[in-house]
Amino acid sequence: MFVCICNAIRDTELRDAARKCPGGAKQVYASLGKQVNCGQCLCEAESIVFEARDEPLLAAE
Ligand code: FES
Repeated sequence: MFVCICNAIRDTELRDAARKCPGGAKQVYASLGKQVNCGQCLCEAESIVFEARDEPLLAAE
């Protein structure tokens, strides 16, 4: 499934990148060579990033 429509980022791609890159969703997007555009995806993307690392969401930022 696509998490970010603007950048065509799939959840699987986001999970893989999150395990290789520290930081929140914006940093993980940057590691993929993408930038946040509309921002509609950020809440879900943050959840996926921290879930992929098995870290609590409160650790964001
Ligand atoms: S849906 Fe991700 S930046 Fe727009």
